[in-house]
Amino acid sequence: MKKVEFGSQIAHVGSTEELCVSLADEVEKLIRERAAEGKMAILGLATGKTPLPLYAELVRRHREEGLSFANVVSFNLDEYEGLGRDHERSYWAEMWVNLFDHVDVVEGNVNVPPSEPEDAERAAGEYEEAIRAAGGIDWQLLGIGGEGHIGFNEKGSELESRTRRVELAKRTVEDAADDFGGVENVPTHAMTMGVGTILDAKRVVLMARGEGKQEIVKRSMEGEMSADVPASFLQKHENMGWFLDEGAAG
Ligand code: PGA
Repeated sequence: MKKVEFGSQIAHVGSTEELCVSLADEVEKLIRERAAEGKMAILGLATGKTPLPLYAELVRRHREEGLSFANVVSFNLDEYEGLGRDHERSYWAEMWVNLFDHVDVVEGNVNVPPSEPEDAERAAGEYEEAIRAAGGIDWQLLGIGGEGHIGFNEKGSELESRTRRVELAKRTVEDAADDFGGVENVPTHAMTMGVGTILDAKRVVLMARGEGKQEIVKRSMEGEMSADVPASFLQKHENMGWFLDEGAAG
């Protein structure tokens, strides 16, 4: 693993395996420290393909090294609108299949924005309130979309944005088309934490893998901060790490 500093930004560059070990070390340290104090560790988690090997490493540590998730509270970044928890492409389902089903997390401590809220504005406010009531997010994991979204904060998402209902960008819908068996099956809306919600986390880590992410990572880390590239606002965070494989780092 290499540690590279760009102005105020810190990038950790290595193989997927090295990135996952390093990120899993952060999660494990947090969980164990909190457990020793009799406290909960509050994780902000992400879906998508990027974090899958990290979740596999956390599952391995649970199985082979006794890492317990009994004191974990999690808040996921976002959820598609209208799928319901039973839909295999819902982020609720993805989180269980890829992580929670394989560890000892307490179901009541898992939070994902609601997919079918009766009143989206009220549900968004309640999600924010639940994060606040838990004491705020200790460690927030992010992926990045090809146009610089974090969560479903698409182009145009402002620094102060909070959890809310959003319309998905054309590119986001296209990127998900394969998973849904065609662009016409991809939900058009979602609920996402806001950029401001994400920046409130005590530690933020963004993971990006593959050459396809190289250009947007560069713009996010080095470009002007602007709602045109919501991930660029991460430059503001004082405890932010970019975890990049060689392809994404370029
Ligand atoms: P990916 O998605 O991990 O599947 O590349 C990342 C994102 O769109 O935020």
